[in-house]
Amino acid sequence: MGFYSSWLFPRVLDLVMQQKQMIPFRRRIGKAARGRVLDVGIGSGLNLPFYGDQIERVFGVDPSSELLHFAAERAREISVPVELLRGSGEALPIDDNSIDTLVVTFTLCTVTNATAVIGEMRRVLRPGGRVLFAEHGRAPDAGVARWQDKLTPAWKRVAGGCHLNRKPDDLIRSAGFRIDDLETGYLKGPRPMGFVYAGSAQAT
Ligand SMILES: C[S@@+](CC[C@H](N)C(=O)[O-])C[C@H]1O[C@@H](n2cnc3c(N)ncnc32)[C@H](O)[C@@H]1O
Repeated sequence: MGFYSSWLFPRVLDLVMQQKQMIPFRRRIGKAARGRVLDVGIGSGLNLPFYGDQIERVFGVDPSSELLHFAAERAREISVPVELLRGSGEALPIDDNSIDTLVVTFTLCTVTNATAVIGEMRRVLRPGGRVLFAEHGRAPDAGVARWQDKLTPAWKRVAGGCHLNRKPDDLIRSAGFRIDDLETGYLKGPRPMGFVYAGSAQAT
């Protein structure tokens, strides 16, 4: 790994993901999460400050040791126990049916095999458990979606593998989750990068 991917990119990502406009999503998810929580692609741990006392333990999985290092610093500042695990969403180092709340924020765009990650999420979530998500993806406006398709090959190279044109709601449904709450809309900033899908889902 070169200087860009191992040193510069994690620091830039941590700053970009601290945008104020993402805080309401993190706050809502932190309030709704219960019990044993798994944050898939936890990155630098920006959801951690929003997790409250109703949570028994947070497991955070991410392939980036640099981002996990930032997450460990944030974990020290909260009272909820946090276990950070280096690994990928495609092979979660977590037991079957052992998680009460699965959190995924701005991560399904980046994983290599989104279908495999959703399948793993389904495996580890206990029956009746909830998925809480806030993800960006394909815009409903044809003009914006065309730009997302055009930009994705180059964007992926500079943005850690991020796809602009995935549909997180379809991905979540494809593993047998029922979405029971979905809010969509553009963030401030370039529209191809900022169409958000936020909500919750349950295993059917
Ligand atoms: C845009 S960041 C979002 C980080 C964090 N969830 C947040 O809301 O700030 C995408 C994250 O996905 C992680 N990631 C990339 N590939 C992954 C994979 N195969 N499985 C799990 N996480 C992955 C990256 O390391 C990064 O932390």
